[in-house]
Amino acid sequence: MNFLNIDGSDEQQQAIKDLTKEFEVSTEKLRSIVRQFIVEMSKGLERHGATVAMIPSFVTGRPTGTETGKYLAIDLGGTNLRVCQVALVGNGEVEIQQQKYTVPEPLKVGEMRNLCDFITDCTDAFLTEIGTDSSRETLHLGFTFSFPVNLTSIDRGNLIQWTKGFSCSGAIGTDPALMLQDSFRRKNMKVNVAAIVNDTVGTLMAHAYRDPNTFMGIIFGTGTNAACFEKMEKITKGNSGPTNANEMVVNMEWGAFDEERRVLPVTKYDNKLDRESIKPRIHVYEKMISGMYLGEIVRNMALGLVDRSLLFNGLSSGDFNTQWSFETAYMSNIEEDTTPNLSETQHVLESVLGIPDTTLADRQITKTLCRLVGLRAARLSAAGVAAVVSHCDLLKRDSSTAAVDGSVFAFYPNFSQNMMQALKELFGEDVDKKIKFSRSHDGSGLGAAVIAMQVSK
Ligand code: BGC
Repeated sequence: MNFLNIDGSDEQQQAIKDLTKEFEVSTEKLRSIVRQFIVEMSKGLERHGATVAMIPSFVTGRPTGTETGKYLAIDLGGTNLRVCQVALVGNGEVEIQQQKYTVPEPLKVGEMRNLCDFITDCTDAFLTEIGTDSSRETLHLGFTFSFPVNLTSIDRGNLIQWTKGFSCSGAIGTDPALMLQDSFRRKNMKVNVAAIVNDTVGTLMAHAYRDPNTFMGIIFGTGTNAACFEKMEKITKGNSGPTNANEMVVNMEWGAFDEERRVLPVTKYDNKLDRESIKPRIHVYEKMISGMYLGEIVRNMALGLVDRSLLFNGLSSGDFNTQWSFETAYMSNIEEDTTPNLSETQHVLESVLGIPDTTLADRQITKTLCRLVGLRAARLSAAGVAAVVSHCDLLKRDSSTAAVDGSVFAFYPNFSQNMMQALKELFGEDVDKKIKFSRSHDGSGLGAAVIAMQVSK
């Protein structure tokens, strides 16, 4: 890897060289990660409770794009709560009305019942706003609940664990769909929770509504995960729903990959983040890739350099010392900063984070840290995609599309190019003719609605 030249001291140059080495994911390393990924995927298909859980979604058919009807969708699990009314009008066309709500932090760690009541209150307000009456005809809802849920049917399941900073009490081991349904009942709203859907499954189905070559739905956002089609005969662990279908969408829950720490290049900066996170030890892959965490890794690296007096003249600020204060969005701004003096970087460090008087070398070092962490995230992400490509033998097909959603994919500079570069190293230069990434904007709304439609028909 050849990064920026730093106009700094020998010690600063050496520190950056060392970090570059630590954060490099060589092609060889990628190969070993992909091999392990494939092993873990097989384990997940064979038995319950595996790390990469490969959870059957009970979604079997592929949409044709001709389906019609009006459905509700709720999306919980990213940065915002989203409530949507989706009209499928056929021909792959849709009309979506939606509203976003911020989930107050105390609700994310309070009682599950209160969180459900908040969701129903928002739904009620939204329906009133768009003039839909929920007291007369039953509205069918696809509930995108983007956490690991072991499904027992399309509308029933048990929450395995919280991720991404959520930690409500009274939820683990219980059914989030039932709890939400109860909340609608208490409010006398005629809403039927017809399906509980992971956001990756929704993303896959939403894209498949328009493009039949879609093989995978991926989220690179606050968290990360993927869903793919799997042949029924390969899901051998039992309780996986209808056996008359040929294939089913499987929610991989790949964020948990390598919780055993066998192969991922975990550094001390990742370990620090993990130890101080609300759920230590779990979702190690997600913590190296997704938007909730990348900025915090950079902050940990930067503080390590501050402690050695190699950055910011050995001085931090109250803000910069605060956990999560260095947002992943700042990394995007900094990586995009091509001004000669790195003035955008200066703005983030000095005006936003209160670090006094940065030097050009400080700003160059910070930019390099962002590039190291961003590039590693993209290459590790590619390993997951490569595992699915190999496992499903996709290179034998003419063309396959991965539908992708999430802020990291959408806004992080060069993320998809860096992923594709890693895939080329693994599969050859022509891989981009066979495997394509396509941004899917409305996965958890449209996808959940398509699934609710399939169920309620
Ligand atoms: C959750 C997944 C979800 C992903 C993306 C992860 O933390 O475990 O269920 O799909 O985030 O939102």
